[in-house]
Amino acid sequence: MDRIRQDIPILKETFDGNPLVYLDNAATTQKPRAVLDAMTRFYETDNANAHRGMHVLAERATIALEDSRRTVQTFLHAAHPEEIVFTKSCTESINLVARGLSQAWIDADAIILSILEHHSNIVPWLQVKEERGCDLLWIDIHDDGTLNMQGFEEVLRHGTVKLVAITAQSNVLGIRPPLKEMIQKAHAAGALVLVDAAQAMAHEKIDVTELDCDFLTFSGHKLYGPTGIGVLYGKRKLLETLPPLLGGGMMIGEVFTDRFTTADVPAKFEGGTQPLAEAVGLDAAIDWLTQFSWDDITKHESLLMKKAYDLLQKIPGLTILCPNPNPNPSPLLSFTIDGVHPHDLTEILGRKGICLRAGHHCTQPLHRRLGIPASTRLSVGIYNTTTELDLLAKELPEAVKRLQ
Ligand SMILES: Cc1ncc(COP(=O)(O)O)c(C=O)c1O
Repeated sequence: MDRIRQDIPILKETFDGNPLVYLDNAATTQKPRAVLDAMTRFYETDNANAHRGMHVLAERATIALEDSRRTVQTFLHAAHPEEIVFTKSCTESINLVARGLSQAWIDADAIILSILEHHSNIVPWLQVKEERGCDLLWIDIHDDGTLNMQGFEEVLRHGTVKLVAITAQSNVLGIRPPLKEMIQKAHAAGALVLVDAAQAMAHEKIDVTELDCDFLTFSGHKLYGPTGIGVLYGKRKLLETLPPLLGGGMMIGEVFTDRFTTADVPAKFEGGTQPLAEAVGLDAAIDWLTQFSWDDITKHESLLMKKAYDLLQKIPGLTILCPNPNPNPSPLLSFTIDGVHPHDLTEILGRKGICLRAGHHCTQPLHRRLGIPASTRLSVGIYNTTTELDLLAKELPEAVKRLQ
């Protein structure tokens, strides 16, 4: 653990003499030195635009971008590198699919979403609904937060469902829907499936071939990589039929004064200069993450979360939202405390160097469903320790006492 923590420069920061206790990994993760160094090295030795020049630096930049694409392909176990599209974020990746499908679809049919979704996996579909007049059908949750699978099957029977867009892990409750089963059922009903893997990606093995999802999206920055880069995985034959989101340089076959043709995938979706240093950073982040086994990551994060559950349950008036009985708890949980506003709580703890997230976490429909305006979220990553949770256990009751 010492070695892992030494890899992450920001963890040495202190606030008024208090060590940084970063428990907001679901918002963004901190970056290993290897990621920062790889990005600096790219600017110092390889910087040029990719896929544009013939000179030596242009070649290095192109190789760096395509190496990163192959790293992501291997990481996701995708069949072809062309199935990996670089975007600026998970949000942009979902928008790319939504805008593209909206143009490609002829009929205005139905899209299924779960109430667990982040706004990034809701608003683009609301835009499609506004544009095409299609129905949005919602899967509800049970009181323990798990998805109502009977409800899912009922909405699938609607008969005209074109797409199911589902999170791999809720960013509020940590719930992990049974993706494989849902994908099989959706396909049997003739629907495509988009998996929003923004939260799951850094915590569990995601194999797109085994899952058989049609699209999968995530952001580099939640995976120990830089901001400014996201990934869209799409089955090649589907990407080939999808119109591009952005028009511009390098996404074209030919351009005339009255028309254009598009390049092959993935270039078709990568109009304009790509986030090159960020792609290099993402490559380094995946390299850094995959030095650990998924078993070890799960074991470590589960241990932390069991401790977090124990310490939070001792706070009077604290309610953990939909506690997950799973023996391997998700790497995040959210809670409310009677008489304490999450913003006030996280501000007080923040002054002690303890970083938790407060608010609706971009999930207003879910918070409305839970009957609360806001919650506080604790989320761990590879580098967190039980000592950090001890510090939270010391500071939290004092903060609550001050606020109640
Ligand atoms: C489940 C989920 N989906 C999508 C996103 C959007 O990610 P980004 O803001 O990096 O595009 C987030 C971010 O918190 C998320 O938690």
